[in-house]
Amino acid sequence: MAGPYIVVLGNEKGGTGKSTIAMHLIVSLLKGGATVASIDTDARQGTLTRYIANRTKTAEAHKIVMPVHTPLFCSNNTDTTKARGEDEVQLTKVIENFSSYDYVVIDTPGNNTFLSRMAHSIADTIITPLNDSFIDLDMLIKLESGAIENLRPSVYAEMVWEQKKEKAKRTGGSIDWIVLRNRLGSLFSKNREEMRKILESLAKRVGFRLLSGFCERVIFKELFIKGTTLLDLHETEVAMTLSHVAARQELHELVDALQLPIQKKQQYRERGAAVA
Ligand SMILES: Nc1ncnc2c1ncn2[C@@H]1O[C@H](COP(=O)(O)OP(=O)(O)OP(=O)(O)O)[C@@H](O)[C@H]1O
Ligand SMILES: [Mg+2]
Repeated sequence: MAGPYIVVLGNEKGGTGKSTIAMHLIVSLLKGGATVASIDTDARQGTLTRYIANRTKTAEAHKIVMPVHTPLFCSNNTDTTKARGEDEVQLTKVIENFSSYDYVVIDTPGNNTFLSRMAHSIADTIITPLNDSFIDLDMLIKLESGAIENLRPSVYAEMVWEQKKEKAKRTGGSIDWIVLRNRLGSLFSKNREEMRKILESLAKRVGFRLLSGFCERVIFKELFIKGTTLLDLHETEVAMTLSHVAARQELHELVDALQLPIQKKQQYRERGAAVA
């Protein structure tokens, strides 16, 4: 593989699980034996950066895998053209520094910044987590009078298309865009089924692959404080509950479905120990 494989977590809707999923993906890839660097282009909010700082503290007492991490702040130059130039230089330099890594995982903010757009344009895979609500769906696709035939892309979907074109023009490469349903209710509900139908019918037209992520689970809030993930429970001596086992299974299924190049070959070494 020439250069690192770049995975970007993006959605202009805030709080959909980008940083949480970024951390889980990073640990999953590291545990699969890949070398992984991470970039937080949302350093102002800094959730992924704080997640990793919390993890660094936990790593003093427990043997857990760590990525190499860089937070990036958007340029605060008041001249927009200069600010863009500075952002371009800083992102390009960091990616160059990580050229020997297998993967670079980039977290982006829940709003539109130049750094975030640039990150999207260099992605090999974009993962867009989406909560199961029509408000979140509206941030992706505008459904005029609720009819699928009348859909029009939201600014975020247009931005992804733009970056796909940009990448094709620049490198001839493509971007695998994945929309990931997150925080699913564990029980069957009418709303959940309705969302599934709409998203499935939109996937082809809008150009994304639809995957299921995680059910709504309290554990994600607890893990952040320690900087750990569902894959670190054994190392950090947390007793596994049935809910943990189910959540890990969701993660394994998600990582498999991403079809990332290296992890695909290694077929997820850790799986055998998932319920150990
Ligand atoms: N499957 C889930 N179940 C329960 N809580 C979740 C789940 N996924 C994420 N969360 C929680 O949702 C909140 C938002 O998650 P996160 O910070 O990862 O989202 P984000 O998209 O990165 O937000 P932002 O746009 O603000 O950067 C956090 O409190 C996180 O713990
Ligand atoms: Mg975030």
